[in-house]
Amino acid sequence: EKGGYDYFMLKEIAEQPKAVSDTLLGRIDASGQLHLDEIRIPTGELREVNKIVIVACGTAYHAGMIAKYAIEHWTRIPCETELASEFRYRDPILDSRTLVVAISQSGETMDTLMALRHAREQGARVLAICNTNGSTIPRESDAVLYTHAGPEVAVASTKAFLTQLVACYLVALYLGQVRGTKWGDEIQSVIGQLARIGDDVDAVLETMEPVRELARGLADRDTVLFLGRHVGYPVALEGALKLKELAYMHAEGFAAGELKHGPIALIEDGVPVVVVVPSPRGRSVLHDKIVSNIQEVRARGALTIVIAEQGDESVVPYADHLIRVPATPTLLQPMVATVPLQVFACELATARGNEVDQPRNLAKSVTVE
Ligand code: F6R
Repeated sequence: EKGGYDYFMLKEIAEQPKAVSDTLLGRIDASGQLHLDEIRIPTGELREVNKIVIVACGTAYHAGMIAKYAIEHWTRIPCETELASEFRYRDPILDSRTLVVAISQSGETMDTLMALRHAREQGARVLAICNTNGSTIPRESDAVLYTHAGPEVAVASTKAFLTQLVACYLVALYLGQVRGTKWGDEIQSVIGQLARIGDDVDAVLETMEPVRELARGLADRDTVLFLGRHVGYPVALEGALKLKELAYMHAEGFAAGELKHGPIALIEDGVPVVVVVPSPRGRSVLHDKIVSNIQEVRARGALTIVIAEQGDESVVPYADHLIRVPATPTLLQPMVATVPLQVFACELATARGNEVDQPRNLAKSVTVE
């Protein structure tokens, strides 16, 4: 049932192009129009939404962090993303014009369920993004957009994450389309590129052998740090989370701009630092700032592992290891940049002799608060 792979996680990483395509299927037509009538919230109501709050845990929370960038950019609706376990305890401000988006692979995560119950009690509408048909979270929500990742067996989430991102992009682009923003042309072009993103994920998977080799060489390390900015920041957090749960290593993700506000003190000789570099074509200011960060940590002895777009030559002099990903629109880059981090963590876990599919102390679905 592992389809020839040693672990479910490897199988599920490999299934990502298909999971992504399945999640897009029927939702983008040949003319680039989005069809999300299945969520059954009348477009009139979607036009009235004046605030979006995303609640989720763990990896799903990282998808929600990325969604915030996409939603605010394409819809101009204020959006916040909050850990489900924190949400209801601070008495959040919600009303009937608030759209709460609850993201959950299993649909059974108690923290997320309690957050959405609280939101509905306050009169907010709740849209679930979920991978499990008929599970509790979609049943208790006003609307649902299913991801079609298929069953995810490995405890560490991989293909569910990429499909959560797809669902988030679809919601953001759909809201943009329904409400009409000045980004209409960009939205049209991104929809076209989203429709083909499965091929980009496939291309990344084809080039993972050097990443595996690199991981094996780092099996005796204690710490790995991850840096990113903009949507690369949640990617850094996700890379660190995967490494903690699978390799049991100390791993931390930082917003690269925060480096100088403290974390740079952690840099010492030989510490591996993984840096997610945004496209030089999109927000080029950010790109140049992060290239400076790579230089800064390298000057202090860090071993730099750089994830950068194909053709970005500016990073070459500062990368001890360079991992190439296909060029994508800025906001879609997490779809390709996350994949090497999944492979990296999986291989490190294997090299350290850990149980990849069943990491210690973890459960696939966390049904207690
Ligand atoms: C990490 C992981 C967890 C889950 C989290 C939420 O690899 O799997 O962090 O993402 O427990 O689970 P769901 O999405 O089922 O609500």
